[in-house]
Amino acid sequence: LWKAMQDRGMEQLVFCQDQKSGLKAVIALHSTKLGPALGGCRLWSYASEQEAAQDAMKLARGMTYKAAISGLPYGGGKAVVMEHAGMRRDEAFAALGRFIERLHGEYITGVDLGTTPHDMDQIHRETRHVTDQSGTLGATGNFTAEMTAYGVFLGIQTSLTHKYGLSDMNGVRVALQGLGKVGYALARRLHQAGAQLIVSDIDSGKMSQAVRDFKALAVSPDDIHLHSCEVYAPCAMGGTLTHLSIPQLSCGIIAGAANNQLADEQLCDMLEQRNILYAPDYAINAGGILSTGAELAGTGARGAAAAVEKIPHTLKYLYDYARKNGITTAAAADSIAEAKFA
Ligand code: NAI
Repeated sequence: LWKAMQDRGMEQLVFCQDQKSGLKAVIALHSTKLGPALGGCRLWSYASEQEAAQDAMKLARGMTYKAAISGLPYGGGKAVVMEHAGMRRDEAFAALGRFIERLHGEYITGVDLGTTPHDMDQIHRETRHVTDQSGTLGATGNFTAEMTAYGVFLGIQTSLTHKYGLSDMNGVRVALQGLGKVGYALARRLHQAGAQLIVSDIDSGKMSQAVRDFKALAVSPDDIHLHSCEVYAPCAMGGTLTHLSIPQLSCGIIAGAANNQLADEQLCDMLEQRNILYAPDYAINAGGILSTGAELAGTGARGAAAAVEKIPHTLKYLYDYARKNGITTAAAADSIAEAKFA
């Protein structure tokens, strides 16, 4: 683990265990140079402590880059809780709150995959360094996902202008993978803007709903990336852009909400060779962290929307930077983010 910490430039790794509740968790702090480390708490049934720690580190590092490129005064961190049968959930999250409290505000947590506002309420019993608990903006409706979708929508328009000189989405074909909280909200915005949707989800009910609501063409989850379109928007899980899938793509732009879309960072070269414009995931999907930033700054829903509306500027700068320096858009994003927190 020391080697992994070193390779990723991690600041701190905290292993937490509470015998009474059965809590087993890892808190990873990647960087606190720009401010307290921000990043949600994931609940997952990891096969081993090693796997949990590796995941926490990878996710924490991603949060540093996301916060930095979005101009937020925060670093990156993440907590992962190992799900297991003997865990008493409410008490375990309260115990995690005590561990977070011991970090004196160096780490601020929130909802992530597998956790809910109710879990954040338990953490809040023990510390104030938590967001998304009941009654907050982050826990209201689908606010965070809506803001993420809004940012991706704006980022798609920026990418269409950069690549094709288009000023609107009328008739633009978008293949959207994943109709979850973010994907469905994005589909609604794209439909309203006149885009033609090709959609897939492993949940057939969501696909039928999108066909009804947006006149979308529903296709098999295995085939979505094969469809000819201007924009391919991965909004399900990460790691779908691989050595195998990239040669099969038939799109001009990749711009979606999923985290860690590239199975390997070097694959952006392959996209460039295929003349596909890649909108780096952590730059275009920053709507969620920007809403949390607005909540912590006390600027509310309006502040969140105003912050998300800066995503096109970030993307445009990044595309121009890549072109000027003859590097990929993924390398440009890393370089811009690193310059901010180095
Ligand atoms: P979600 O869990 O609400 O939706 C995911 C959807 O993808 C579900 O409808 C699921 O059935 C579908 N899906 C799963 N496997 C699939 C496959 N092989 N093919 C097609 N569809 C599949 O998740 P949410 O919140 O919408 O997030 C989507 C992505 O965006 C995730 O990668 C997440 O990490 C990322 N993200 C989400 C943010 C948020 O604010 N919720 C913020 C930033 C990133």
